[in-house]
Amino acid sequence: MIKEKISIFKDYLTPKGPEYKGGKSRSEIVSEKPIYKLSSNENMLGSSPLAIAAIKTHVGDLNEYPDNTDLRFRNALSDFYNGELSPNQFITDNSGVGILQLITNTILGEGLECIFSNPGFGPYRMFPEKVGAKAIDVPLKGDNFELDVDGIMAAVTDKTRIIWTCSPNNPSGTYIPKHKMDELISRVPDHLVVVYDEVYYQYATAPDFVRGYEYVKQGKKVIAVNSFSKAYGLAGLRVGYAYSTEEIARYVSQGRRPFFINTLSMEAAMAALHDEDHIKRTVDLVNKGKAYLYPELDKIGIKYWKSQANFILLKPEMNDLEFESRMHTEGIMTRPVKGFGAPDCVRVTIGTQEANEAFIAGLRKIVG
Ligand SMILES: Cc1ncc(COP(=O)(O)O)c(C=O)c1O
Repeated sequence: MIKEKISIFKDYLTPKGPEYKGGKSRSEIVSEKPIYKLSSNENMLGSSPLAIAAIKTHVGDLNEYPDNTDLRFRNALSDFYNGELSPNQFITDNSGVGILQLITNTILGEGLECIFSNPGFGPYRMFPEKVGAKAIDVPLKGDNFELDVDGIMAAVTDKTRIIWTCSPNNPSGTYIPKHKMDELISRVPDHLVVVYDEVYYQYATAPDFVRGYEYVKQGKKVIAVNSFSKAYGLAGLRVGYAYSTEEIARYVSQGRRPFFINTLSMEAAMAALHDEDHIKRTVDLVNKGKAYLYPELDKIGIKYWKSQANFILLKPEMNDLEFESRMHTEGIMTRPVKGFGAPDCVRVTIGTQEANEAFIAGLRKIVG
């Protein structure tokens, strides 16, 4: 009976579009050596200590529901941006990918279109396809992965609702210089929003790197996406936020459920916002890691791209899956990024000095 009912609904039960699969978990790997997880761009120093203290303080509160609204969290975010953005300009969710999905579900749908640029983060294509929207790839240009503003403008139609951008970009680690972003923002028509994914912004050092609030403050239709999974070291808690104009933030926030973010995640995230010391130590570690890794990679002679984020894109002269599995044998987890439009490439997170040395030793063994 139940089976019959299900078969009636088989059109509904056919999965729509590709499934987004995150990087492998540590528990999936079998290795006799200690495992260095350099596959998911996490914080190698661990979580913000202030966030951990907040979790300890609130661990006794779990019998009660969390705040019904996210107002306290949005007030904290507004303070973090020195009051330059109002609490009503923020959207919160239980992860950065959650934010991307919320944006997709509220803005896109059957018959509508969005534009993304490969290599790029998989959900920009996968989430829209799931809601029946068309996702058009205007690839990043040349060996430096530059944003193709002319190409994007040529792909815009009256059905386009979102242009996805990411800086620093996952998986290339490259960034969109301010003049390019200015050009895009000044040329886009009024019937669409530009999503600017800046989840790795803390690591960017280029003088012409730009934050999304530069545009949001000018009232541009930009949604800037952020996460607590990266520099704050809270990937396991799943918290993210975005900010935009009040009108767009209100519209997108309608897609939220009540009690959307759990108590511990919200308290930890609010505490982490104040943890400047942890962010500084995290960024220093990544910068030192780059200073060690770049010359080592040059010596090995493997193709790689200099990064504005906490990871490096590599192109080994070997099948990406074979590279991944041989590195597993050496105790190193890396991430093949074919699904992000970078076939034959592998992404490696910059680790502690010990992890970076283990990575280089493993790399020498398998490609050297
Ligand atoms: C570019 C980009 N955006 C968003 C996210 C989402 O992060 P999370 O869902 O962990 O908050 C990630 C995570 O890898 C990312 O690389």
